[in-house]
Amino acid sequence: MKRYLVTGGAGFVGSNLAFALERERKAAVTVLDDFSSGDWKNLSGFGGTVITARVQDACWHDKAGAADAVFHQAALVDTTVADQRAMMEANVDGFRSVLDYAAKNGVKRVVYASSAAVYGNSKCPMREDQVPTPENVYGFSKAIMDNVAREFAEAHKDMTIVGLRYFNVYGPREYYKGKMASMIFQLYRQMKAGKRPRIFKFGEQTRDFVYVKDLVRGNLNALDAKRSCVCNLATGKPGSFNEVVEALNKAMRLDLAPEYFDNPYSFYQNRTQADLRQAKALLNYRPEWSLADGIADYVKIMEKEAAAAVHV
Ligand SMILES: NC(=O)c1ccc[n+]([C@@H]2O[C@H](COP(=O)([O-])OP(=O)(O)OC[C@H]3O[C@@H](n4cnc5c(N)ncnc54)[C@H](O)[C@@H]3O)[C@@H](O)[C@H]2O)c1
Repeated sequence: MKRYLVTGGAGFVGSNLAFALERERKAAVTVLDDFSSGDWKNLSGFGGTVITARVQDACWHDKAGAADAVFHQAALVDTTVADQRAMMEANVDGFRSVLDYAAKNGVKRVVYASSAAVYGNSKCPMREDQVPTPENVYGFSKAIMDNVAREFAEAHKDMTIVGLRYFNVYGPREYYKGKMASMIFQLYRQMKAGKRPRIFKFGEQTRDFVYVKDLVRGNLNALDAKRSCVCNLATGKPGSFNEVVEALNKAMRLDLAPEYFDNPYSFYQNRTQADLRQAKALLNYRPEWSLADGIADYVKIMEKEAAAAVHV
């Protein structure tokens, strides 16, 4: 039986991954989390063990023991946090701690979450070999993680370090992210409450939204990557906020017109779009969920949860 460690496993992406490893791969999974933004309810029904610790501290290294691979998702994910030291310690020192743990325990593969935030407002489609131009300390921390990974992989040729630059992820188990949950989730909640969905004028900005089921698939494929690399994970087909509202209306059987308002931000990404050639070549990654299908599936799940009062 394979053993995997999932850091940030009480969070949105980490919990989806922990369940996929357990249920699809029949693996023994250990979650490491400090429960700062995750929630135990994301792990309801989980059959593995949990280590409660901050990833940047070394106290958990011995407790975690050996593993076939680590999926490192733990991070300070609030992009509005201005405390640069806290962001760099959690994300960059946290990642160094994971690499140190892996080297000491004979773990040969580390798959970690990078982010499209490294690209800032650069031209589309965004490619992994572009010089990173992050617009906030969160994006900067992820760009530095990619540099740390590259240097570490060069120094440890027997290990495979795979960085995955997630674009805008949405899907089940993001409820506890609150204001950091996806716009798809926020708009669903507004519409569910009978309100018109509020979006910036005039809803034409686009995002490369990716359904968490595709993202989990990309992570699992990284177990077979032949070499260390950094790859985008997205759909490659951006959708506008107007299209999101249209898909939500259809899935929820509503007809609520968007309420447009002025964008208050001086900095704002008008477009994001991933170039997926590298992910296809190195991870055999092929996204299966279009925006409309992903939203339809997600709405079905949220409606079921609402009926069963899962989050109250
Ligand atoms: N969701 C997205 O759209 C998106 C996009 C790009 C990148 N990412 C990256 O994906 C990863 C997972 O994000 P998510 O959306 O699931 O967020 P999340 O907040 O739901 O999950 C993060 C988890 O890490 C834990 N954590 C935070 N700091 C920790 C620390 N110092 N030590 C131990 N645990 C800690 C939290 O408690 C939480 O359970 C993160 O690395 C994030 O930067 C996410």
